[in-house]
Amino acid sequence: MKIRNWTNDDIVSVAEIEKNCFSKPWTLAMLEEEINNPYFFCLVVETDNIVIAYLNYHIINGQYHIANIAVESNYRRKGIAKGLLKELLRSAKENNISGITLEVNSNNAAAENLYKKMGFKTMGIRKKYYGGTEDALIMWLYL
Ligand SMILES: CC(C)(COP(=O)(O)OP(=O)(O)OC[C@H]1O[C@@H](n2cnc3c(N)ncnc32)[C@H](O)[C@@H]1OP(=O)(O)O)[C@@H](O)C(=O)NCCC(=O)NCCS
Repeated sequence: MKIRNWTNDDIVSVAEIEKNCFSKPWTLAMLEEEINNPYFFCLVVETDNIVIAYLNYHIINGQYHIANIAVESNYRRKGIAKGLLKELLRSAKENNISGITLEVNSNNAAAENLYKKMGFKTMGIRKKYYGGTEDALIMWLYL
């Protein structure tokens, strides 16, 4: 299993994982637009030449803003998301990034636990952020 930066060839695989993991997935067109954005990055996890997970993020004012992280369901609970976040932390330190932030649905216990395990703290709540009903937790990890 290896973690690497995405290339144009990975867009379809990442879009497929999006579709499998989220009710409102990023479309192929959205991802195609981001691949030309110099402030957007995407790490993918590949095994046997298949992309099975990704983490994408923007760099804004010297901080990383995680957009999404997802692992194909057959590969969950094997430490893959943790591995992606560790790689992100390594990159953040290398690039003098001062913090990493994200929003997570307050009903998404798996993701909230993952981020807490990696040292993120809940710093605020956006009420009814998702679909006008579900709250978003704003989490931050200062480096
Ligand atoms: C959230 C997600 C990325 C976790 O990926 P994963 O590779 O299974 O996570 P890991 O195996 O690295 O787990 C790391 C820690 O996260 C927490 N965790 C992961 N899945 C969990 C679950 N189903 N229930 C509770 N805690 C969970 C645990 O603390 C776990 O540590 P442990 O295994 O030592 O208990 C994955 O469930 C997923 O893709 N979900 C759908 C997409 C999504 O909701 N993304 C988050 C958007 S903000």
